[in-house]
Amino acid sequence: MMASRTAICRGIQRRSWGIGTRSMSSWWSQVDPAPKDPILGVTEAFLADPSPDKVNVGVGAYRDDNGKPVVLECVREAERRIAGNKNMEYLPMGGSMHMVEETLKLAYGENSDLIKEKRIAAVQALSGTGACRLFADFQKRFRPDSQIYIPVPTWSNHHNIWRDAQVPQRTFHYYHPETKGLDFASLMDDIKNAPNGSFFLLHACAHNPTGVDPTEEQWKEISYQLKVKGHFPFFDMAYQGFASGDPERDAKAIRIFLEDGHLIGCAQSYAKNMGLYGQRVGCLSLVCDDEKQAIAVKSQLQQIARPMYSNPPVHGALVVSTILSDPDLKNLWLKEVKGMADRIIGMRTALRENLEKLGSPLSWEHITNQIGMFCYSGMTPEQVDRLTNEFHIYMTRNGRISMAGVTTGNVGYLANAIHEVTKSA
Ligand SMILES: Cc1ncc(COP(=O)(O)O)c(C=O)c1O
Repeated sequence: MMASRTAICRGIQRRSWGIGTRSMSSWWSQVDPAPKDPILGVTEAFLADPSPDKVNVGVGAYRDDNGKPVVLECVREAERRIAGNKNMEYLPMGGSMHMVEETLKLAYGENSDLIKEKRIAAVQALSGTGACRLFADFQKRFRPDSQIYIPVPTWSNHHNIWRDAQVPQRTFHYYHPETKGLDFASLMDDIKNAPNGSFFLLHACAHNPTGVDPTEEQWKEISYQLKVKGHFPFFDMAYQGFASGDPERDAKAIRIFLEDGHLIGCAQSYAKNMGLYGQRVGCLSLVCDDEKQAIAVKSQLQQIARPMYSNPPVHGALVVSTILSDPDLKNLWLKEVKGMADRIIGMRTALRENLEKLGSPLSWEHITNQIGMFCYSGMTPEQVDRLTNEFHIYMTRNGRISMAGVTTGNVGYLANAIHEVTKSA
């Protein structure tokens, strides 16, 4: 009995190894390499370049003035308090409710009636990307005939997220290449012309990649028009605090929409504003008609999360809730966010001044008009190629400069190189 079972097992093993049936490689021989991610590809090329002059202004991660990654002091302190003090049990499917409660206050306001009335369905998400993806899957499941309107341009991963969730995509005008600002008139036309009840993806602040945000007045008009058309506003807020240095001010667009009575959706991330990039901590929230609906919506969000990753990671959530629930640590965080935003704003001024001092024939006003981590420089892909090939400066070919990678030490070199490749344009 035992011997024949062993023989059967050997037979199965031989077959599954491909012996006598098919060769090992045949299962995946039809798989071609995936195209390189435009942003992550830049970092790979930068790392492979041996030049001592090389500069990476491609990746959207904050660096200090020495070009080094930063761990905030409030995060270090929160980690000290957590260390050895917490167990490693699973979080509930919806994540840390403590973290979620604090996170909602940042987006909706400390004294939000929506929070008091328990009208917001919210779950911890795998950072901003995970929050967007969870929403896209929810949209597909419960509004299967809907589309998503995405600004042109946008963070390239937005397209991937809604594509993989199988939600059809439409676009709306956003950036005006000539003014290097907002194409407000076309944006408003697109809102008016979209079928009633369409879904619109909006960057709450510090638009990626353009650094162009609507003014408060423009947000009011956008909100009004979306309301008239019965559209659904979904805010991706990956940079709260990074635009102005003040998370409260950076939530202004959301607050305008809430005042107008929109039932919004919102993706929040702590990657940038707490420097918790690799911890993957964020939040997805949807404003509902009432508490009963919020309970139903939350349960369905959890249902979508369950077969994907079961429940979200615990450490980042603990760091966030430790910081935000302690007034001293929260104040330290606010100071540190402002420090990061101010350094970026200072580098915008320095880059523009350097270009002007070099006698550039072009206007570089947009460098200081734009806001947040990125400057959409207006350089062509060919000019970016020259920056890389001749000056070892790395960025995405759409001309997006991550201002977070610009330092006192490299801003002069960067300005000079930009001047060289653009002066005859
Ligand atoms: C507009 C926008 N949304 C979302 C994200 C998501 O970032 P994460 O998933 O790291 O929170 C990013 C990151 O670059 C972004 O720029």
